[in-house]
Amino acid sequence: MQAALDQLTQLPPLVTSWEVAALKRQLALAAEGKAFVLQAGDCAERFVDCSSRRIANQLKILIQMSLVLVQGGGRPVVRLGRFAGQYAKPRSAETETRNGLTLPSYRGDLINRPEFSLEARTPDPQLLLRGYERAALTLNFIRALVKGGFADLHHPEYWDLDWAKSSPKFDEYRRLVHSITDSLQFMENILGIPASGSERIDFYTSHEALHLGYEQAQTRKVPHRPGWFNLSTHFPWIGIRTSAPGGAHVEYMRGIANPIGVKVGAATPLADIRRLLETLNPNSEPGRLTLIHRFGAARVTDGLPPLIDAVRRAGRPVVWMCDPMHGNTHTTASGFKTRRFDEIVHELEQSFAIHAALGSCLAGIHIELTGENVTECVGGARGIGESDLEKAYESEVDPRLNYEQALEVALLTARLLKRSR
Ligand code: PEP
Ligand code: CO
Repeated sequence: MQAALDQLTQLPPLVTSWEVAALKRQLALAAEGKAFVLQAGDCAERFVDCSSRRIANQLKILIQMSLVLVQGGGRPVVRLGRFAGQYAKPRSAETETRNGLTLPSYRGDLINRPEFSLEARTPDPQLLLRGYERAALTLNFIRALVKGGFADLHHPEYWDLDWAKSSPKFDEYRRLVHSITDSLQFMENILGIPASGSERIDFYTSHEALHLGYEQAQTRKVPHRPGWFNLSTHFPWIGIRTSAPGGAHVEYMRGIANPIGVKVGAATPLADIRRLLETLNPNSEPGRLTLIHRFGAARVTDGLPPLIDAVRRAGRPVVWMCDPMHGNTHTTASGFKTRRFDEIVHELEQSFAIHAALGSCLAGIHIELTGENVTECVGGARGIGESDLEKAYESEVDPRLNYEQALEVALLTARLLKRSR
């Protein structure tokens, strides 16, 4: 593995410290309610999905959701993809057994492969390099699309998804987009010039910083800015399984200047919160530390208020985000890992209400989704049932909202945001 990591150290970075600093400023604004963060993408990116169609579809759904949030929520939206490096997965079980054969679990394309054979499940250090290269290809295409006008607000048809028009929520979405393009037209008519910047929408990248060798190999000093930067992504985050205050992941994150996230939930001891805040944000820097809470619909009402209270008592600023996905995962009788749309919605509604009641600001949402027409989560306007899951279940790890369900979550979140204004 060391040889692969040495090679990784020699390769140029994927992002710059300017971009990283700009994201931190935007997160600080979001914490004050002056922007809203949409962090979203696959649970795990797959190497096979590093294709123009898949990447474009992922951008399309993120652009659509963000427009809905801007229009309904009345504040700028920071788009933070779970992409260009979301290749390593923490697993609850070390091994998986099928028909009496026990093999190591699949840990993401950065480590091994999902096929059920010893060869596929044996970690291969070359995958670290293949993953880095695919992250670079993904980001390169995203940057080119965005620069080339793909996200131009004058052309909403560029980011319509093929199957969008048959969606039960499409009319509501269309009306929102028309009101945006009408306003833009109105402004340009008054100004007599094109509204500058309207042809560009920025995307930031994020991934779970799980493989510390990989992250460290891309951690650099830059000429004109103090500190160390992880330049493989703008926003690395720590998953809930690796968030112990004295653990290696917290120790790594402590040393970098990026804005960072930590997942917290029912499994996080409240006693750890103060230590996490002190260790990860010793200078109380706004925008530096995001807490992404993921309690689950059944536990958020009990779990979130004491967490907000513990943070308040610690006296350091955080950016609050809600992940309504990871506390709501169930396995069906036929063995599909799924999530119920109504539970996801319930956790979002409760989270907005609790933050509002306690005078803190919910600054963003963290969603697993895909621009593809999959059937992995049940419910939503089209009423996907458990018996539909087998029709288009693609995820090797967690179930994602499909295009329609994701848009529906955006419409609902926009309403919740409007209410909290
Ligand atoms: C994830 O975001 O895919 C994940 C594994 O989350 P958590 O650490 O919250 O379980
Ligand atoms: Co996941």
